Amino acid sequence: MSDKELLVTKINYGTVIDHIPSGRALAVLRVLGINGSEGYRVALVMNVESKKMGRKDIVKISGRTVDEKESNLITLIAPNATINIIKDYEVVKKMKMKVPLVIRGILKCPNPSCITNNDPEAFTKFVSISENPLRIKCDYCETTITEAEVIKQVL
Ligand code: CTP
Ligand code: ZN
Repeated sequence: MSDKELLVTKINYGTVIDHIPSGRALAVLRVLGINGSEGYRVALVMNVESKKMGRKDIVKISGRTVDEKESNLITLIAPNATINIIKDYEVVKKMKMKVPLVIRGILKCPNPSCITNNDPEAFTKFVSISENPLRIKCDYCETTITEAEVIKQVL
């Protein structure tokens, strides 16, 4: 993208999450646990043209980097996203991500009789079975969930 076409300016320090499937930028912020009250400057670009994917979303977070664990969570909703760590206006790292083997506490088990829906002190724990198409399994009751269910929960 040329600077002339940039909807938002380059950032000095922080994280740019690029190539997010269009419409999922808010879900990306949600899995990162960012809701605006933390005070970071955040720019969302939604439904812009992309050579590679038709339309895409971009999230720019100033003042905060994203670690490997958080990057892996982003694959649940944006498997082909690129995470760029920015320092002094330069991209210093582009992260390749993998679906995490274990996902704790973010998703709900859809099985109403699962212990995680009945014990207020229980946290959910899912383990990944397949990356593409995405399938993950509740570690307690073995209910499997797909990408569609993950999107429904985090959007
Ligand atoms: N970016 C930014 N601020 C910077 C540097 C880069 O907001 N100081 C953004 C760019 O606008 C782009 C993303 O970070 O959306 C990645 O930058 P760059 O690697 O320079 O772009 P591309 O080569 O197009 O990325 P890719 O290889 O992922 O297609
Ligand atoms: Zn369960």
